[in-house]
Amino acid sequence: MRNNYYTLTIMKTVLITGGTRGIGLSTAIKFLQKDWKVYITSRKQENLDLVLTDHPGLKGFVARADDLAAASETCIKIKDETGSLDVLINNAGTNPSGGSLMDVELSAVQKTWDVNLMGPLMWTREAVKAGLSESVLNVCSVGGIRPSQYMGAYNISKAGLIYMTRQLAMELAPDIRVNGIAPAIVKTKLSEMLWVNDEKGSADLHALKKLGEPEDIASLIYFLSGKDASWITGEVVTIDGGFLL
Ligand SMILES: NC(=O)c1ccc[n+]([C@@H]2O[C@H](COP(=O)([O-])OP(=O)(O)OC[C@H]3O[C@@H](n4cnc5c(N)ncnc54)[C@H](OP(=O)(O)O)[C@@H]3O)[C@@H](O)[C@H]2O)c1
Repeated sequence: MRNNYYTLTIMKTVLITGGTRGIGLSTAIKFLQKDWKVYITSRKQENLDLVLTDHPGLKGFVARADDLAAASETCIKIKDETGSLDVLINNAGTNPSGGSLMDVELSAVQKTWDVNLMGPLMWTREAVKAGLSESVLNVCSVGGIRPSQYMGAYNISKAGLIYMTRQLAMELAPDIRVNGIAPAIVKTKLSEMLWVNDEKGSADLHALKKLGEPEDIASLIYFLSGKDASWITGEVVTIDGGFLL
């Protein structure tokens, strides 16, 4: 008599901050396609409702990226609902601080650093407290590697996030891997001012003569977050169409 073999697939859980559009939403869809339980966050209930209706299976919470209490509540709720929290993607980011670093309003600099730098630290701490089991992925930027005009405050936040990725990789090893990615210009709402008036000119800044698409970024995030990258930690991978060449 032949034996019957049953394969038990345990669905893993990922939390993506800022998942209602752009890189975050593409990443959420990628993980959904790979049969993960996927949670996203947003600042606004109406944005969340629209996306959750369009993408059955996706779940989410209203939680600002720079709100410690919201980070804590969200991570605990997910752990309670699913029994596990395996991967955290620190994706939510903002850039209200365009202009020369010497002139830009300090309140805008503060907001940028709160969301882009303090946010990932807070969400990582709360996710780990809730029992995060596998990895953290920080969405950094090439701006954190090379300075550019008018984006000083944003670039400094991303440079800090690159450093934080390495620091936390060291502190959280051997149990949790921490990696980052550093994209150049990707076609999203956040970067619209960089390409909407002259898409070709913007594309030409990249050796491959094209802008990034959110789906390009989602594939790298998925790879670095999961088991296929199980011997990679403390790395920030540039994904820039040759922008830095
Ligand atoms: N696009 C690029 O060229 C580029 C390049 C390098 C790095 N990045 C980084 O990639 C990440 C994603 O950006 P994106 O280009 O995909 O931007 P996007 O299309 O504007 O999407 C940003 C997402 O984050 C959410 N969000 C914004 N501020 C938030 C906050 N304070 N708390 C919680 N959620 C918040 C937004 O949702 P709600 O509006 O619903 O709250 C939205 O879902 C950011 O960290 C950005 O710095 C982007």
